[in-house]
Amino acid sequence: MEKKITIIGAGNVGATAAHWALARRLGDIVLLDVMEGIPQGKALDLWQAGPLDGFAGTVTGSNNYGDTAGSDVVIITAGLARKPGMSRDDLLAKNVAIVRSCAEEAVRHSPDCVMIVVTNPIDAMVHTAFKVSGLPKNRVIGMAGVLDSARYRTFLAEALGVAPADVNALVMGIHGDRMLPLVRLANVAGVPVTDLLDRETIDRIVRRTQMGGIEIVNHLKTGSAFYTPGLAAIEMAEAVLTDSRRVMPCAAYLDGEFGISGYFLGVPVVLGRNGVERILEFELTAEERAALDESVAAVSKQMEATGL
Ligand code: 2OP
Repeated sequence: MEKKITIIGAGNVGATAAHWALARRLGDIVLLDVMEGIPQGKALDLWQAGPLDGFAGTVTGSNNYGDTAGSDVVIITAGLARKPGMSRDDLLAKNVAIVRSCAEEAVRHSPDCVMIVVTNPIDAMVHTAFKVSGLPKNRVIGMAGVLDSARYRTFLAEALGVAPADVNALVMGIHGDRMLPLVRLANVAGVPVTDLLDRETIDRIVRRTQMGGIEIVNHLKTGSAFYTPGLAAIEMAEAVLTDSRRVMPCAAYLDGEFGISGYFLGVPVVLGRNGVERILEFELTAEERAALDESVAAVSKQMEATGL
């Protein structure tokens, strides 16, 4: 049987995720939004790419959660996006209400789904979805680290003049200015970047990664990034749907890992059919630990603000 993937929110991120899902042949796609006509129009447009692209599955646009029933993966992208001058936290109150209703409705029709949360501020929204959905901790995951690490790898690859795919680098912690792009572990096909780039260049890249989202908001002025956020969510969905056990940095619920309990935070995760199959824990340096603690403090404030 074809896998079924529901994408909630037919804005830039949702529609782009649907596009990537089709290109990756993930299965039948449902694009849902509260706006009448938008998901229907975008889904129809995408479905008609089938003869050119070779995609033989269905793409359905809907305003009705009944159409999402039995989804294997549900991706929540619905919510307001940032405008210049807005932090991710400014969005919090409005997006809690939106994500709350999306998660409640989605799980009612797909009680066995793995839920991937993309709406910002991601760390608070994944907590919201977890609390209201009643899904087990392994089945609710936030998309952030895949995007942030992709940005980090892109900037490192540019500085090194190498293929981006050969740069391995991990970003942990919150999806915000206090995220933690790990320098010590970044490498090109196993060669440490600290042996290849000077400290000043690395520091500049780390800072650019931390500000990667706002750099794009400042260009666009009317919204935020969507091509790579959409693909990052689909990378995660593909790993779940194919049970590939690929390792990606995701916002996962910590239950003692890294000495932290009760928070969703970006950590390296083994993804499989059950969502988070395992969190890969490792020893942090004192400096990394301090940076991660700052992330925890920031996430904790956001969590409190959700009132959940
Ligand atoms: C970003 O970093 C949308 O927060 C997202 O671009």
